[in-house]
Amino acid sequence: MPVITCIDDLKRLYKRRVPKMFYDYAETGSWTEQTFRENTTDFDKIRLRQRVAVDMTGRKTAGRMIGQEVAMPVALAPVGMTGMQSADGEIKAARAAEAFGVPYTLSTMSICSIEDVAAHTTKPFWFQLYVMRDEEFVDGVLERAKAAGCSALVLTLDLQILGQRHKDLKNGLSAPPKLTLPVMMDLATKWRWGLQMLGTRRRQFGNIVGHAKGVGDMSSLMSWTAEQFDPQLDWSKIARIRDKWGGKLILKGILDVEDAKMAADFGADAIIVSNHGGRQLDGAVGAIRMLDPIVQAVGDRVEVHFDSGIRSGQDVLKALALGAKGTYVGRAYIYGLGAMGQAGVTRALEVIHKELDITMALCGERDVADLGRHNLLIPKGFSDGWE
Ligand SMILES: Cc1cc2nc3c(=O)[nH]c(=O)nc-3n(C[C@H](O)[C@H](O)[C@H](O)COP(=O)(O)O)c2cc1C
Repeated sequence: MPVITCIDDLKRLYKRRVPKMFYDYAETGSWTEQTFRENTTDFDKIRLRQRVAVDMTGRKTAGRMIGQEVAMPVALAPVGMTGMQSADGEIKAARAAEAFGVPYTLSTMSICSIEDVAAHTTKPFWFQLYVMRDEEFVDGVLERAKAAGCSALVLTLDLQILGQRHKDLKNGLSAPPKLTLPVMMDLATKWRWGLQMLGTRRRQFGNIVGHAKGVGDMSSLMSWTAEQFDPQLDWSKIARIRDKWGGKLILKGILDVEDAKMAADFGADAIIVSNHGGRQLDGAVGAIRMLDPIVQAVGDRVEVHFDSGIRSGQDVLKALALGAKGTYVGRAYIYGLGAMGQAGVTRALEVIHKELDITMALCGERDVADLGRHNLLIPKGFSDGWE
């Protein structure tokens, strides 16, 4: 068993063990990938203030996200096709999150269905909704999420039309993969993945198949998005969904102060400052640059969460210090899942937790709730100076 000390170790193993098509699906951004790259490199530009001679005993990473107790303010982000990264991947990730004490968010575009994940977990998870043209489908999936006991709805606003990812087109991304010659040659070296996949019946979009009417090619996320996602999504439609849902609502994909103000006026329980991990608007700023302006504008009216670019506990600390009340990891746990299944997701969470805890101590802090701008050194013009 290799020694895993950081998220990058998991990524290396992940690359070796999971078919190229699905590795590429996760490890990519849209078009030139500028925003995808800058999501991580922008984190590096923020430095931490080292403090000494401060009692560092009795540290606390636990807190709350939308009122829910969490072992650390880090949730698992919704990731489509997780069940293609590892057989029954959504169930494995949800179980790892539950055992660790952090929220798991199930994507609309998951392989395991809402009911399947609920049957294999004991605590409520969160459900992420992509709004479809078909209102009957939307209402049905909301009812199913309610019936499964989901404790929050994460409504994604930044993907009503798909940002192009070149690799997915070139690889012919689909679930399950079509067995072309290049795919078969690749699978020959990924036998562990293949064996596990043969052992499960969950190989299609579990929330959709058998639930959505008149859907064409169900294997392709890309064609389905083009056919089904509602390009007319606006605040009135969001209000309809809020009323149908009736529970906690988190709006995901806010990157602009004006949109954040509208979300706060709207009365969401939380917003997620996010650019979808650099997978949508290529050329948008690294998400961490927008966190401070958004917190300054609406942080007293709505709980502000953050994702996009987090690869370590240090990154989590930086986001919390900039005012986020919660964070999410996407790729960081997918690397773990593809590398080592459920144990790999647990390992990713352990790595991030340890990094957060020790970094907090070295910054002279004992409680994540006390983190703030005073812990950071931020280059001038980091979040402003744009025309
Ligand atoms: C492979 C992949 C699939 C994703 N699928 C979804 C999805 O189905 N729904 C959604 O709201 N966001 C989706 N996202 C975006 C994540 O929820 C999250 O915003 C992003 O991964 C954060 O960036 P990070 O990967 O750098 O942590 C996906 C991200 C990745 C990498």
